[in-house]
Parts: sequence; structure tokens; C-alpha cells
Amino acid sequence: MCGIVGGIIKGDIGSLLIDSLELLEYRGYDSAGITLMTDQSELNTIKTTGKINLLKQKYLQSNTKSGSIGIAHTRWATHGSPHETNAHPICSDDIISMVHNGIIENANELKESLSEQYTFMSETDSEVIAHLFRANIDQYKDPVLALRHTSLKLDGSYATAILSRNHPHKLFFSNFHSPLVIAITDHGHYIASDHLALLHLSNQFIYLKPHQHGYITLNSIHIFGQDGRPINPKIEVVNIVPPTIKRKPSEHFMLKEIYEQPNVIKQQIEQHTTHWNPLIEEQLHHIKHILIIGCGSSYNAGLTARYWIEACSQVSVQVEIASELRYRQAYHKTDTLIITLSQSGETADTISAFASLKKSNPQLTSICITNNNHSTLTRMSDFTIITPAGPEVGVASTKAHLSALFCLYQLAAKLNHAQAGQDTLDDPTQLHINLKQTLALHGNIKQCALQISQYNHVLFIGRHLCYPTVIEASLKLKEVSYIHAEAYAGGELKHGPLALIDANVVTIALLAKDHLYDKMISNINEIIARNGPVFIYTNTHTDPFENNALVNTIRIPSCQNDLLPFIAAVALQLLAYETALARGCHIDQPRNLAKCVTVE
Ligand code: F6R
Repeated sequence: MCGIVGGIIKGDIGSLLIDSLELLEYRGYDSAGITLMTDQSELNTIKTTGKINLLKQKYLQSNTKSGSIGIAHTRWATHGSPHETNAHPICSDDIISMVHNGIIENANELKESLSEQYTFMSETDSEVIAHLFRANIDQYKDPVLALRHTSLKLDGSYATAILSRNHPHKLFFSNFHSPLVIAITDHGHYIASDHLALLHLSNQFIYLKPHQHGYITLNSIHIFGQDGRPINPKIEVVNIVPPTIKRKPSEHFMLKEIYEQPNVIKQQIEQHTTHWNPLIEEQLHHIKHILIIGCGSSYNAGLTARYWIEACSQVSVQVEIASELRYRQAYHKTDTLIITLSQSGETADTISAFASLKKSNPQLTSICITNNNHSTLTRMSDFTIITPAGPEVGVASTKAHLSALFCLYQLAAKLNHAQAGQDTLDDPTQLHINLKQTLALHGNIKQCALQISQYNHVLFIGRHLCYPTVIEASLKLKEVSYIHAEAYAGGELKHGPLALIDANVVTIALLAKDHLYDKMISNINEIIARNGPVFIYTNTHTDPFENNALVNTIRIPSCQNDLLPFIAAVALQLLAYETALARGCHIDQPRNLAKCVTVE
């Protein structure tokens, strides 16, 4: 989703900002822009649709490359098409230049009151911020007060970075429910929506909290709360090596990240006893209910966890889509543990759902499982479990998803141990080896993908633990290959989806050697009887469909059934990847999607 970088330094900042912007590319965007303030306090803005290298070319060709203060942005269109006029920075004449992440929900209302005085040039909701800030500076004569009054008028979510030509040595910012971080360096200060954009420049960061606003200068940082009082910021030293988010030119990030999974899981297996906060384990003794909240793949991980937890404890599990829970009036028992799942830790739907849940149930304990230690959800939660997946660049979540799934598996095992003194879930200590064996099937899976890529409709089916696993597989396939895919529990076929089956709809069945094996075989027979082609992914050795021309069987490594969701996830990620490759799709940045979904 949109990305912000900005800064005020000794020397020219333009190319540094564009470099940092490139580090935010993974979030997904459709246009980009930069404003530099010259020594004469002029605001020079360059914008382009498409990729950052186009912005770079335009910048290098321009006559106005100098300036030690600047702001830059990648835009993921919400209000208004991905057109250059709608790209940020957005200006109020040549007085104000501003970049914005988020959505201003009362933009129309504000626009009405501002349009007598100012001409709106774009279709964006963001433009109101530029004009409103300018109007408030005129009214209050003090830019910080103007910024505060601007923030107070905005409904929705925002992170902003703003330049005002009448205040040439300051870079203003404000935020509410959209992340913003300040980096301190020996040559000046930077601001960005993600520390990943600045890790190569600094390891000292201030993570802004909601409703904070202020400005940075070359030598100072000024942060104010909603009430206007100055805030003494906490500087955090982040000791992580700037991640290699580069890949071999021939490789997609998605493939690189799929292949990193055995190592991520190995690390988690090794850290099993050392890495967990004992206070989390203490919580597990008392809870009776678990409420899991997430979106997309994170929600799907929660669905899988429900089967594990229910199988090994007396704890009831509710799994909710954050964007739905947020607007429901659900009742939650006092001994409920909330688990939020979010690889980015910045998903607006999950944050809002969790915030309103906390407001109405302040006594409930919460754990956040995330791949981002410095995220909003981490700060909001009582406890955090960090997935050691490392930065994930491909928009389709693979290693971060699998790592979160493994955290949930460990949590279920710990719950089992804490409440029943037992270890009934299957031992996962060899899982990383099984995952490597799964990757070795890449060639076979590719052959299967070449056939799947010919279809326009794919139906996934599974039962028990295989059901949430195919829900995730179907999301992955549609996301990267743009093939229409749906997932159903095997038992649901006859309640509707069987009507779809004919030679043009291919079914992918995940078949486990479990207590529902025979029932799944019947479901597959129901499809074959209607002339539907079927690809079976299975950890069994028997093949009841051996000579059936409609059926292809892909044997995934044999494993215990509790661990099948991991093995199958990797095999089906490879299937999605190879299918998308065969169809020539933009695998790492699928159309219309963003990595970090910071708007509701
Ligand atoms: C799918 C995918 C998305 C995310 C969803 C939630 O591959 O990546 O469905 O899972 O947008 O994101 P997080 O986990 O960051 O809250």
C-alpha cells in the first residue's frame, strides 16, 4: 500500500529518497512522486505513474535535483485512478506539498467547505489535507497549531509528511492509525512509513503513536500529542542487519520466499523452548476460550489452528475475519484470550477490530503473532510472538504465513501441555526436513501447474485440517494467477458446488490418510462421475484412482496428519507460483493488491 519517505539532511536528499522509496516497492503501488525544496524555498515536484525507475529517470533528467529537504511517496489508488494528477505529493498551489497514507473518510465534507477558497486539482481524498493545513496556517499563524487543528478535523486514517514553503527548514508530519517512523542519523533526520526504508541509513528510530504530530529539522525532533503538549520520544535502537530484499534477477521474491521456509521453520523448532515469553505460557493455564482475529492468509492460519487447539484441549476457539468482527456486537467471555494474526502488524482492519474489542473488553489478555516487531499491533498487545520469517517482499504471503502457522502449532502444543499435562499433537521436530522434501517435488508440481493454467475455474476441496489448508491454497492461486478459485469442505459439495462440475472446472483435492479418508474418496468420486478432472495432493501411499484418466495424483511427503497443513501449504504455494508463471502474471506484485493493507 502507499509508502512515505522524507527527510531533512546536510546535502542533497533526492536520490536518497528515491533509493528508500525503492525499499517500499514491495508494499504495492501504481504511481510515485517526490518534492524537493530548493535553497530558495521553492517546491519542485516530479510525479509519474508506473514504476519507481520511471520516477528515477524523470528525476535524473530534471534540472532541479538539488534540495536538502524532501518528501516522496508510492501511491496505491483508493480515491481516484492511478493517474499522475492523483499521484502524491499533492500540492496546494506552490505553497504546500504533502504525501498521505490512509483514507480521509470525511474528505467530501471538508472539500465542500474548502473549495470556495482553493481549487482542487486531483480526485484524491488526500488533497483536503494540503488545503486544510494551508488554511489553518493562515488562521493560526503557527504551523504546529495548524497541524494539530488539521488532524483534529480529519476522520479516517492517515500518516502525512508535509512541506510548507513558508517554513523552509521544517518537515511536518502527523499520524493516526497509519504507521510512521522517524530515523535519527549523523547527517539529519528522516521519516518513513516503514523502518525497512531507512534501515540502511540508521538504527535509531522513534515509532510514532496515533494522534501524534510535529516536525523534524536538521538537528531536532519535535513531537506533540493530540492535546498539543510536547512529547519526549522514546528512541529505540534496532539491531537488525538491513535485510537483503534483493533477489537474483531471474528469480521472483515469491519463489525465493517459498524456498526459505524450511530454514524459517528449523529456526522456530530450535527456539521452541528459549524464545517464548514465560508469561505467555502462564496465561495458557487459565484460559477457556480463544478468539483469533485476522484477514486473508492470516485468518486462514487461524482457521487451521482451531482444529489443532480443539483436538488437544478443552478450550473453545472462535476465528473471525477482522473487518466483519469490527462491526458486530459480539459478546466475549471474560476468560477469553485474544490472538491477533498479522504478518505486517499494520493491517487496518485487524487493528480496528482489536482496538474496539479492547475498548469494550479491557480485561481480556491479548497476544499478537506478527512478522513485524515494531508494528502498531505489537504496541497495542499485551504479548507479542515474533515470527522469524524475515522481511517478506512478495505480496502473496508464503514464509510469513507458514511461520505464523507454526507459532500457532507451538501455542496449541503448549496449551495442551499446560492444561492437560500431555503432548498429543504430532512431533514437529523433523518438519523442516519434510518441507525440503516437498520443495524437491517442484518439477512434478510444475507439470501439474501447466495443466491447471489452462482452466479458468478451479475448485479446491478438503476435509478437517485439509479444509482450511485448501482455503489458503485457493486464495494463493487466485491472488497470483488471477484464476477464479473457490474452496469447499468436501462435505459441502452436494449442498451447491457440485452444480459447477463439468469438464471445464478442475478440482484440486487435498487427501489425508485420516479418519475422513473414505469420505473424501466419495467426494472425489462425485466429481469424477460428473466428468470433472481432479488433481489429488495426498500424503497417502494408496491410489484408488490409479487408472482413472480424469485423475492425477501428486504424492507429497508422507507425514503425520497434524503436520499436513504445512507440507500441503508449501506444495500448493509452488502450484500457485508455477500456474501464475505459466499465465505470465505479475507474481510479486499482483494487480490491485498491496502487501501492507493500511486502509479499511
Ligand atoms: C495473501 C495475503 C493477504 C494477507 C492479508 C492480511 O497472500 O498476504 O491475504 O494475509 O492482507 O495481512 P496481514 O497478515 O499483514 O495482516
